[in-house]
Amino acid sequence: MKDGAGLDLVVNGEPHHVLAAPGRRLSDVLRNDLGLIGTKVGCDAGDCGACSVLVDGEVVCACLTPVAHVAGQRIETVEALADPGPDDLQRAFLRHGAAQCGICTPGMLMAATALVRRIQTPTRAEVEDALGGVLCRCTGYTKIVDAVLDVAGQGAGPEPIGGEAIGARVERLDGVAKVVGTESYGADAVAEEVLEVRAVRSPFAHARFDFSDLAGWASAHGVQVFTAADIPGENSFSVIPAFADQPALAEGVARMRGEAVALVAGDAEVMDGLDLEEFPVRWEELPAIEDVTEARKAQAALIHADRAENILIAGHVERGAAQEALARSAHVVERAMQSGYVEHAYIEPEAGIAWMEGDVLNIRACTQAPIMDRDDTARVLGLAPEKVRIRPAATGGGFGSKLDVSLQPLIGLVALRTGRAARMVYSRRESMMSTTKRHPSKMMARIGCDDAGRLTGMWFDGDFNTGAYSSWGPTVAVRVPVHASGPYVMPAYRAEARAVHTHGPVSGAFRGFGVPQAAIIQETLFDELAEAVGLDRLAFRLRNAMRDGDVSVCGQHMRGVGIAECLEALQASWDAAMDRVRELNALGGTVRHGIGVASCWYGCGNTALPNPSTIRIGLTPKGQVVLHQGAMDIGQGANTVIAQIAADALGMPVHMLELVDADTGVTPDCGKTSASRQTVVTGKAAMLAGQALRAQVLALTNMGDGAGITLGDGALVVSDGARSARIDPATLAVNEHGYVLMAEESYDPPTSALDENGQGTPYAVYGYGAQLAEVAVDTRLGTVRVERITAAHDLGRVINPLLAEGQIEGGIAQGLGLALMEEYVPGRTDNLHDYLIPTIGDMPEIRSILIEKPDPEGPFGAKGLGEHVLIPTAPAILNAIRHACGARIDQLPARPDRVLAAIRKAEGNQ
Ligand code: FES
Ligand code: FES
Repeated sequence: MKDGAGLDLVVNGEPHHVLAAPGRRLSDVLRNDLGLIGTKVGCDAGDCGACSVLVDGEVVCACLTPVAHVAGQRIETVEALADPGPDDLQRAFLRHGAAQCGICTPGMLMAATALVRRIQTPTRAEVEDALGGVLCRCTGYTKIVDAVLDVAGQGAGPEPIGGEAIGARVERLDGVAKVVGTESYGADAVAEEVLEVRAVRSPFAHARFDFSDLAGWASAHGVQVFTAADIPGENSFSVIPAFADQPALAEGVARMRGEAVALVAGDAEVMDGLDLEEFPVRWEELPAIEDVTEARKAQAALIHADRAENILIAGHVERGAAQEALARSAHVVERAMQSGYVEHAYIEPEAGIAWMEGDVLNIRACTQAPIMDRDDTARVLGLAPEKVRIRPAATGGGFGSKLDVSLQPLIGLVALRTGRAARMVYSRRESMMSTTKRHPSKMMARIGCDDAGRLTGMWFDGDFNTGAYSSWGPTVAVRVPVHASGPYVMPAYRAEARAVHTHGPVSGAFRGFGVPQAAIIQETLFDELAEAVGLDRLAFRLRNAMRDGDVSVCGQHMRGVGIAECLEALQASWDAAMDRVRELNALGGTVRHGIGVASCWYGCGNTALPNPSTIRIGLTPKGQVVLHQGAMDIGQGANTVIAQIAADALGMPVHMLELVDADTGVTPDCGKTSASRQTVVTGKAAMLAGQALRAQVLALTNMGDGAGITLGDGALVVSDGARSARIDPATLAVNEHGYVLMAEESYDPPTSALDENGQGTPYAVYGYGAQLAEVAVDTRLGTVRVERITAAHDLGRVINPLLAEGQIEGGIAQGLGLALMEEYVPGRTDNLHDYLIPTIGDMPEIRSILIEKPDPEGPFGAKGLGEHVLIPTAPAILNAIRHACGARIDQLPARPDRVLAAIRKAEGNQ
């Protein structure tokens, strides 16, 4: 409620008189009454720290602070730090790449500000302690801590000159707004006369429902109600149109907990006080299928009538005769493993606003896939795609889940039906209960090798719980068999993965599309094979590592393969860690130390399907060079990396480019930010567009290949040694896009369809990596402390080392969570208190080693990295646990109780 007593606040040194009920949250007053959107809200429950502000110099969670409690006290928000420009701490964050998506950054900065005011040169432990209450899902915290320790450090180095952006530690080009608090996320958008929208959601995993007097209830409360009956188009969507099966609003039956069945829209004052428990819906709870084994039983009810055994789809790759090869093998190991739901837990819950401009529906919301949002929303609302314009907000983390539409069709429906702007901000609980998860898995695998430790064959079978609707289930089912061998030469192979429906949450894309789960069983079995042969575990992997010219399990002739280089790069650390562990364990005691290694490979882009990107670069009549870059930057750095590639291809300094980022109205289609594709696919389009514009410029000026291009006095200046020429854009004709010179280029990776045995060319470019984990296991408590991870990743060509390290550190944090603590239980862990993600205190030391084995297809040799970095972490940790204490973990996460049980089992087997 915004009504209430007058309160006097002092915020950032300015007095404010606000009308506010005394119990209103300080975060709400700061954001909505004072317009200080730099204070973010991730949970409204004191769990995430995104709302941290200073009150009389002390850090408080603004979401838990009643505004009346701080009347008259000195309140400071992130906006105060940047006056007139970023302060030393904010500059340090930029210099170190400490802000990725940026949603946690204001909270981190306020906590760090309080610390450095108290202790000018804090220790690493003091920084970790001071920032311990703020969660970050992107960075793995390393660069944040480094930035705070370096607050008084040297400024940024010189900006790279033309042709030297690639390989430079270029600060994030879109970083300033993130550190000063002006970056605008979905929840930050406001509009006149806006309708606030809330969804009525199913409290049951499976239920029939109907409505009673909707009109009477709406009229009594002064709101409007929308149900499936109001949807003008097809009430079904999916990221893969052929599998569209998810209603925007359910019709008569809810197939999962949290499924939206109706919308209520009204003015903010009305909506704030509305109790949706009183909404006139009658529920009849129905039996729910929660598990894939149960779902596949012959007597199980079908969740979708046309999907026998509740199987959405099965993926299959077969090469050679795996079972026969295994029967002939000197050594064979096998195991079954399972993993649970994993929540993306980005700090920004879904949020956005929709409004009409003429007959075009505009939507500003967080997303990873603007074009897909446009098409799905248009289909649901019965509009032509060009009548929907997606103008993405900054996105506070996605990791795969924001590839699927969430609120876009819902706020779109309200805006379309009412003509008024419609806004929706998911609560943390709503975000966690209704959006996609990592697929739970039940896997079995058998792998063999000969007496020399050479792999002979592998058999893999997995059921992946895809939940109530299809989402990315087909992609997981196809990607897993293609990747389950790991980056090794596997002479005979058979792998099958199925996406199986249950009444669980929808499982979708989450950094790796099922490959991280498959890598866990393959890499842990490799340790057992190495042991059976009597080979060092790193040596075993090196012996079997794929090399240039080898053939993959899909029959693809591989090029630019860098896994051996990654494994070799770990050798010195491996030897040193092994010596250290021996010494520590020789001391005895109940804490046992161990090391483990695991590898990854990952195909960049869609699997055997087209996924083109298009980049436009143009010179304006005023002499600006504009890069239309439609790859969503969700914190991973596309805005910077794509610009670096385009700039070097053009031969112009990167800081001279003007950036126009994703907007379906003004940027060509760069596809979705997923599958580690943007650096490779959009990057290649940027390279081609930059080269094409350069060719035009050189032809116009009759300059040679070595010429450099800069801007000066509204002209393009082209210099080649002693010669120099100018292009005055004001003298040239303007095209329909407003440019006097322009290049637009597309790139679609050359792949081929897979045959019935999964043979073909699923990807044009792969990336590789290997990680070494060092752990300490408390054998009395079952707790695991990861002490250090050394990560070697082959990027082909490192476009930006600063951002690459940030990706590695963030991926490792998520991999550590997958291994040790993250387990989403529907209905029980819908918050960031019960659902644990790694905090700053959980993170190990991380050492990154960047390998450059150029890919012949990638732009300037570059490969993708975003998903690769998570894949080896969990198996490396599990292998280290087993090395430390013999515990073989069969179910993830390796919670203390599971570790203890595995230790007891191992002791029983001795
Ligand atoms: S929003 Fe206040 S702690 Fe999360
Ligand atoms: S940068 Fe911390 S949550 Fe994204």
